[in-house]
Amino acid sequence: MKNENLFLQIVPSELLEPNWRLWSFIALLILGMGTLLMFPMGKVNGYIDPFYAPTVLVVPIAGLFRLTCYAYRKDYHKHLFRHPNSCTLSIRGDSTMRGYSGETKLFRIENLHRYFVYAGIAILPFFYYDFMISLMYGGIFSLRLGSVLLLLNAVLITLWISSCHAIRHLAGGRTDCYGCAFAGRQRKSLFNKQSFLNAHHELFAWLSLLVIIGIDLYLRGLSAGLPLDLNILKLL
Ligand code: FES
Repeated sequence: MKNENLFLQIVPSELLEPNWRLWSFIALLILGMGTLLMFPMGKVNGYIDPFYAPTVLVVPIAGLFRLTCYAYRKDYHKHLFRHPNSCTLSIRGDSTMRGYSGETKLFRIENLHRYFVYAGIAILPFFYYDFMISLMYGGIFSLRLGSVLLLLNAVLITLWISSCHAIRHLAGGRTDCYGCAFAGRQRKSLFNKQSFLNAHHELFAWLSLLVIIGIDLYLRGLSAGLPLDLNILKLL
């Protein structure tokens, strides 16, 4: 009994409970990836699913770019792996007993985020292209709900990438002295604008993820015959 109490003092009881967040996440991931792979979507009513856009060629890199984003890293380390936990929490999980594990071992890949960002920038135009071609459907120029969603997706992904921490470094974070640097004033101004976006990075990260999933579901609904394709504007 005494030994059991000692054990509970060293290992917080929270850690002995099943990590339902991690297991729910794994279940959702398997379900989501399974659906994407087993039931791929082609073109539906002139819309291309962002998951299967020409970007499909670089999906692994785009996926790693998203996976290594600081906004998600904070959450999966804290809430899924429970390590490292925030120092402000009274229960620090096993952080007091384990060394810092972020960006080590398998997580070393997180250090490559600054390079994955170039892949993110490279695929950005494809999202706008998919929006543009969705405007011409059946030889008619029309603005439909799906096109609006594709545009929203492209804009949110643009905001998400523009506000990236690696972009912040490129935009001016690495400059020690703007007064001494070439075009210092302009670079400082660019850095300030990027910093404004950067303050909302987490919001853009989650919104862009939810919208891209929402579009995939929307297109699956359309292909199942649901009357969801609202016509907003039609020009002959
Ligand atoms: Fe989130 Fe770079 S930190 S995309």
